[in-house]
Amino acid sequence: MNSTTMLASEKGRKFHIYKSNEEQKRRKNMSMNNGKKLTGKIAVITGGSSGIGLATARLFVQEGAYVFITGRRQAELDKAKAEIGKNVTAVRGDVAKLDDLDSLYATVKSEKGALDIVIANAAFGEPVLTKDATPEHYDKSFNTNARGSFFTVQKALPLLRDGGSIVLVSSVAHVKGIPVYVTYSATKAAMRSFVRSWAADFKDRGIRVNTLSPGPIDTPMMASQGASKEQAEAFKKQYAQLTTLGRVGRPEEIATAILFLASDDSSFITGIDLPADGGMTQV
Ligand SMILES: NC(=O)c1ccc[n+]([C@@H]2O[C@H](COP(=O)([O-])OP(=O)(O)OC[C@H]3O[C@@H](n4cnc5c(N)ncnc54)[C@H](OP(=O)(O)O)[C@@H]3O)[C@@H](O)[C@H]2O)c1
Repeated sequence: MNSTTMLASEKGRKFHIYKSNEEQKRRKNMSMNNGKKLTGKIAVITGGSSGIGLATARLFVQEGAYVFITGRRQAELDKAKAEIGKNVTAVRGDVAKLDDLDSLYATVKSEKGALDIVIANAAFGEPVLTKDATPEHYDKSFNTNARGSFFTVQKALPLLRDGGSIVLVSSVAHVKGIPVYVTYSATKAAMRSFVRSWAADFKDRGIRVNTLSPGPIDTPMMASQGASKEQAEAFKKQYAQLTTLGRVGRPEEIATAILFLASDDSSFITGIDLPADGGMTQV
């Protein structure tokens, strides 16, 4: 064996030891946490009272987290809280209102003192062609989705522990050209851009930032896109055909992808956009 080969084999041996130590650490953590991925973690999920946000809150609690969920409608929050059952605080608020975000984080601070995970998920979307879009439609889209996500994250920073994880729920719409979703898509593209800058900005604190882009998912938001129940069903069929898998997704299928980005399972991933879209934008 010459010196170059010896060096390579020594490097390989060290890498093997490093990998098996890492694997042992991971297994030890898992067994200490009863196999749960978020034991002891505190998470904020905006729009946690319905659809994707609610499925994510449910899964996070099953995985050992304590969750703070938000939404504007108290009745939906009460229902969601009862459904989640434990380890949940519901805080009513609008992400477009900065005072409401301040109240949310004041509640997190007084109840838990710190935070590990932020899921910026609350959003507004309605199908409108450019020729019909009003300034109110434009402002509501950007104030809820882009500005709302921006300040949801900015205001979390003082409470967010080093090593934390931030996930912005974007949409496949940000890489598609869909005439009726011009404002919605642009707000989701803004979120994707925030993530690139924040991944670089927060790196010294070990805070990872990613977007998750769902394809068509069977939630109240999808149902609300049609003017009637029949039209909503027709849209759903059309959306299903746009995916490679030939169906719309379930909120639970997005929750598992969000869990991946929020947990240590994705510890070497930051700044990405993860499409969870049945192949819609990838095939
Ligand atoms: N469903 C899809 O096909 C699809 C596809 C791509 C991306 N997405 C994205 O996935 C995320 C979740 O959507 P979803 O389908 O689960 O919708 P959903 O079932 O309608 O849930 C939306 C949640 O956000 C809350 N919310 C809406 N506006 C808010 C505001 N201004 N402030 C605080 N909370 C607000 C809602 O509660 P209140 O109404 O009571 O406030 C509700 O809890 C959104 O970011 C959406 O753009 C969805």
